[in-house]
Amino acid sequence: MKRYIVGIDENIETVCTDVLIIGSGIAGVYTALCISENVDVTILAKEEIDISNSALAQGGIAVSLGEEDSPKFHLDDTLFAGAGLSDREMVWHLVNEAKDNIKNLVDLGVRFDMTGGVLDLTKEAAHSQRRIIHAKDFTGKEVCDKLIASSKKRKNIKLLEKMYAIDIIIEENKCKATIVLDQKTGKKILFKSKYVVCASGGFGQLYEVTSNPIIATGDGMAMAYRAGATLTDMEFVQFHPTVLYHKKDKSFLISEAVRGEGAVLRNCFGERFMHNYDELKELAPRDVVARSIFKEMEKTQSECVYLDISFKDREYLEKRFPKIFATCLNLGIDISKDYIPVAPAEHYCMGGIKTDMSGKTQIKNFYACGEVACTGIHGANRLASNSLLEGLVFGKRIANDISMNHLKEKLDDKQYIIDDKGDNYSQPVSEVEKRIKKAMNSKVGIVRNESGLLQAKQVIDKTLQVLDQYKFDSMAQIQTINMATIAKIVVAAALKRTESRGAHFRSDFDQPDDQWMIHIDNTRKEIDDETFEFND
Ligand code: SIN
Repeated sequence: MKRYIVGIDENIETVCTDVLIIGSGIAGVYTALCISENVDVTILAKEEIDISNSALAQGGIAVSLGEEDSPKFHLDDTLFAGAGLSDREMVWHLVNEAKDNIKNLVDLGVRFDMTGGVLDLTKEAAHSQRRIIHAKDFTGKEVCDKLIASSKKRKNIKLLEKMYAIDIIIEENKCKATIVLDQKTGKKILFKSKYVVCASGGFGQLYEVTSNPIIATGDGMAMAYRAGATLTDMEFVQFHPTVLYHKKDKSFLISEAVRGEGAVLRNCFGERFMHNYDELKELAPRDVVARSIFKEMEKTQSECVYLDISFKDREYLEKRFPKIFATCLNLGIDISKDYIPVAPAEHYCMGGIKTDMSGKTQIKNFYACGEVACTGIHGANRLASNSLLEGLVFGKRIANDISMNHLKEKLDDKQYIIDDKGDNYSQPVSEVEKRIKKAMNSKVGIVRNESGLLQAKQVIDKTLQVLDQYKFDSMAQIQTINMATIAKIVVAAALKRTESRGAHFRSDFDQPDDQWMIHIDNTRKEIDDETFEFND
């Protein structure tokens, strides 16, 4: 596997900034806002600034504010969902620092739903308490809009759109610069910075069906991996149980908050079925509900199940879930009368670039935050509405670390030249992408087994072998090699973990096995040699 995907020469345009943040979701923009105002920050958005997974988040943010709730209960629920692999200390920080960060959001103008001056709390699966604050069913958009608006007012923050980060340049294990493709001009730019914060999101686009936006192609993880960072817990991929299943839209999320407000699941005969799978029924942990739906669909030979909230009145539904109500109605589904067709789809990756409690990776001055990172909080299965919270809590921690240390660092004045060997790749990459997505969807989905994983491995290895011989220059090509790289790692880790735990379910090893209470670390050397390291 190549260390660098593209070459650069001495004529490359060079831009200097103290901190380069890759990604314009909640983790990236909140980190920028928390960094002291005497530090110069540049945020790069792969597409438009408002396109991110965070902006699509519906449900809300988990925080223990209820009279009967406490950070300890939030911690217990997170650990329970994480199926033995969550890092207790990290979770402790998450639940205890939640309140202060939510207060910051409110101070920045975010308007969560309130009644009588008190934040409304809803319930989501596997939470023992009502603790999800929300802005109707567009919480992510409300938060992102306000963060972006605040950052536009800050003199020390620059927001640049259509900037695709390709590779980081490392010297003596320290991050020095980032090679970026300016999509508007087609030219490469070298961003030199004291720090890089990677907040580029997950890899949902590796799958045929996903709730993720088009930008989620695993770029940040692939870039970090090529540079020598460790990717951890990559086999744990979360499938959201209830994504709309309609011929015109198979990626629109029907928030878990709908089940939190009482919606029930029905099979194609209109019968409830969750009681056959788990005593918590519709509010069992997300992996359990997704797998139960998958089994019910197999049993009834149908392509979807149905979510029923039709017992609530229209006025309530229009007010509480305006986006879901309007989107469904547009497609001819009146949720106050009709069942909503839904099926599981890829939603979130628990794994990512391994970080410590300050968001530091193993590469000096290279931080990771949000879905691209693996702080160890989510373990084998993320508890609903903990992801935006993780972006906030660890974004703030990264910002503190940078604000405290930035005066000790200097910008690099070296010139970098990277040779790019190989022929220009002239084939369209869309077919290659389709092959990867098909293999991931059919063989590395909700239920896996050795023979399917080996088939997926064969497809992906072959793809990588071919791609490795070429030179790339377009974003589509670079994205494809990133997707193939991450797919290879997910498959390798899924093959290695011969047990079922959380979101990773192997039909050939269908029980958890205590020997596997460990994380699988993936680094370039290990994947290239097909060996792994384990840590507990
Ligand atoms: C949802 O609203 O169901 C998604 C929330 C999450 O992924 O945490």
